[in-house]
Amino acid sequence: MNYSLQVAGRSCVVVGRAAEELPNLLPQKRIIVFTDRTILALHPELFAGREVVCMEQGEEHKSLQSVEMLCRELVARNADRSTFLLGVGGGIVTDITGFVASIYMRGIAFGFVSTTLLGNVDASVGGKNGVNFDGYKNMIGVFAQPQFVICDTSLLATLPPRELRAGLAEAIKSGIIGDATLFELIEQHTFESLCRDEELLSRIVLHSVKLKADIVSRDEREAGERRKLNLGHTFAHAIEKCTHAMNHGEAVAVGIDLIAQIAHYRRMLPSTALDRIHALLLKMGFEVQPPVPLEDLLKALTKDKKSDGNNIHVVMPTDIGRCTVETFTHDKFAALACQSLCLK
Ligand SMILES: NC(=O)c1ccc[n+]([C@@H]2O[C@H](COP(=O)([O-])OP(=O)(O)OC[C@H]3O[C@@H](n4cnc5c(N)ncnc54)[C@H](O)[C@@H]3O)[C@@H](O)[C@H]2O)c1
Repeated sequence: MNYSLQVAGRSCVVVGRAAEELPNLLPQKRIIVFTDRTILALHPELFAGREVVCMEQGEEHKSLQSVEMLCRELVARNADRSTFLLGVGGGIVTDITGFVASIYMRGIAFGFVSTTLLGNVDASVGGKNGVNFDGYKNMIGVFAQPQFVICDTSLLATLPPRELRAGLAEAIKSGIIGDATLFELIEQHTFESLCRDEELLSRIVLHSVKLKADIVSRDEREAGERRKLNLGHTFAHAIEKCTHAMNHGEAVAVGIDLIAQIAHYRRMLPSTALDRIHALLLKMGFEVQPPVPLEDLLKALTKDKKSDGNNIHVVMPTDIGRCTVETFTHDKFAALACQSLCLK
């Protein structure tokens, strides 16, 4: 399977084999590759003969300190305006690489090989790059499109099941917000069968990328429709702020379940759709109970960067494949969440 499509008219996303696609997509320039040690060890074929810089792994290293370290490394290596930066990795590597490339010497060209399911279906596509700051997710960053993104599902064979599941959360999100066929596709499988089926994973990636590419092409800077891609993220970011017990995808799964309950309480989401969302998350092995008390989440989400002054934009699912974005004041949303999730 080999597909390519455009995002925002200037970024090419290819679902295919990195080893085959890279020679066509990489410019005839000096290339510096950013990755992490796990990926370097597991997929050495992607790095043979290349200049490689490893970054630290883990969400806590998605920081300005890492950006500074990587910029120093580029200076030490005499990287200049003509150098091309290739990020090979999951969402953390690609978020950081895109940010470093965008600020180094006021911006150099970059591209990605995405190596996680979460990166394939979401993080690597769309041009959001950045790092966490003072406990706030993705607080410092830029919109900048990579020249290309290669989503290579053959690389997912080495991905631990927990990380694969995390990516599924974002794929399920894509299904709920705008692609009922994608949701049904995942519904038809067990987590175990899905893990083993590269062809199926490629279809899931392609559906998700198409949806994201369409939305981003219409609203690159998240002035409106792109907010839909944040379904479940209001609570997810609050969870990630309160605890490191869950990775991003796991937190998104909890957030989707909570917001679906709220939408159902408000009679926006039919019971059948709520039941299907809840059942699919459980079937894929997600924990849907928040890992911290809801009161703590509600306090944390008032500081979500997606809030706009005293307002917060919340994505409400209205069916499988449909959603709407609503704006609440923090107090109103907290009250609504308390009522619908039965908080005292
Ligand atoms: N920019 C965006 O639009 C966007 C969208 C969604 C999420 N994100 C961000 O993405 C990040 C999460 O990304 P992630 O889930 O890919 O996590 P990650 O980048 O931390 O990767 C998860 C782990 O898997 C390892 N790994 C990567 N590829 C592997 C492979 N093929 N085989 C074995 N191990 C492999 C990594 O070394 C890492 O330890 C979060 O920081 C989140 O905020 C960004």
